Amino acid sequence: MEMRHLGSSGVKVTPMIFGAWAVGGWMWGGADDQQSIDAIRAAIDAGVTTIDTAAIYGMGHSETLVGKAIAGRPREQVVIATKCGMRWDDPKGEGVDPWNQKTPDGKDVVIRKNSKPASIAWELEQSLKRLNTDYVDLYQIHWPDTSTPFEDSMAAMEKLRQAGKIRAIGVSNYNVQQMQQAGKAGQLDSLQPPYSVLRRGIEKEILPYCRDHNIGVIVYSPLERGLLTGKVTPDRKFPPGDHRNEHKLFTMESRRNILAALESIRPIAEKHKADFAQIMINYTMHVPGITAALVGARTVQQAQSNAYAMTFSLSADEQQAIRRAFDPLVV
Ligand SMILES: NC(=O)c1ccc[n+]([C@@H]2O[C@H](COP(=O)([O-])OP(=O)(O)OC[C@H]3O[C@@H](n4cnc5c(N)ncnc54)[C@H](OP(=O)(O)O)[C@@H]3O)[C@@H](O)[C@H]2O)c1
Repeated sequence: MEMRHLGSSGVKVTPMIFGAWAVGGWMWGGADDQQSIDAIRAAIDAGVTTIDTAAIYGMGHSETLVGKAIAGRPREQVVIATKCGMRWDDPKGEGVDPWNQKTPDGKDVVIRKNSKPASIAWELEQSLKRLNTDYVDLYQIHWPDTSTPFEDSMAAMEKLRQAGKIRAIGVSNYNVQQMQQAGKAGQLDSLQPPYSVLRRGIEKEILPYCRDHNIGVIVYSPLERGLLTGKVTPDRKFPPGDHRNEHKLFTMESRRNILAALESIRPIAEKHKADFAQIMINYTMHVPGITAALVGARTVQQAQSNAYAMTFSLSADEQQAIRRAFDPLVV
């Protein structure tokens, strides 16, 4: 199985990573725990041995499910990435950008971005317990906390690396300036930004910066939360609590446009005996500068089917044709 280096950390990841946000249920209209655990195990068995989660996904629930899914396997068989810096459980209310949310069991909470050194160290201990492990392969700051100097947060992450509790350091949703600041206090190994054939914002500055500084790039939502699978038709309904009910890319007009663009690349999909999800994952993980595509799946069937994306190669012409088909829809 192909593995790709994450910066100069020594950690290697699969070109497709299992994204464990939706399996936590939070913001996705709930999820069945056993189905979620089975989906994670199916992904690992199919060769997707890198798993990305976060403390905030289901307020700890996604990490707990990942811990259960990997129980009994040799730890080194899987690469575990998780994230800190989105606190829902801090009675002192430190941090910025308060966001009112509900826990999976319906309690009101305020989520704040908090990357203060003491908070990062405390959060890691909680994540290790939930994941049922004694180290995390990639620890990432989830969103920039503008009330804490980025160098201070980075220094805290380096301390955890020196203590052997994390193997690589990442950030998510940072811009170039924020990465520059963080890079003053340590070795940044990866960035996790949004990216898909519809969302190309990182191409201009962020991808060149990461290439020049040997920072791995793990992109999220390459299927645009299901839209690029071709399964989100105008009649598809999402349950209450699924954030896609309010997402601007899920309007009826947008769904129709995306389905039409997908239809135009059907001959490429048929040639590779692939469905649209597999084509889009393969396309994304072969965009120059991208280390891995982070793909969410909620069922065994989705996890196994998506893993097929790691088994074929699109030609340069096909890669270009796919990109061109979505040019008019780029957001
Ligand atoms: N760092 C951040 O701020 C951030 C933000 C967002 C995501 N992420 C990470 O990136 C991961 C992936 O992003 P994402 O979950 O937003 O979106 P995504 O990977 O673009 O889409 C995942 C969703 O698409 C649907 N899907 C997947 N495979 C399918 C298939 N074969 N056929 C039909 N539908 C399929 C599933 O939803 P349904 O079956 O319900 O349609 C699934 O939950 C997350 O799990 C998380 O780890 C990080």
